[in-house]
Amino acid sequence: MYICVCHGVTDLHIDQAVTEGASCMRDLRENLKVATQCGRCASCARDQLHSSLQQCAKSHARADARQQNNITPLTQKIAATASLTASDNLQLAGT
Ligand code: FES
Repeated sequence: MYICVCHGVTDLHIDQAVTEGASCMRDLRENLKVATQCGRCASCARDQLHSSLQQCAKSHARADARQQNNITPLTQKIAATASLTASDNLQLAGT
């Protein structure tokens, strides 16, 4: 959907800008020239910016959760290996 007709900016352009680090209207004005001509798109662009930021935050939260799930089993494997080694050392020492 077109957000800024003057500069041909769509919601996808704003999503992409947010993915690349845009976080405020100033960023959109500088990068996409949104709301720099007639200004009628400012409100819609702001709404789209907030929506894109929320989607980006949710996406990062899911990625963080996935990353933590991948780290936990490895941590448990290391802990299991360490305790097995300590137990073996005790047996080797004759206790
Ligand atoms: S519609 Fe965006 S500046 Fe005119």
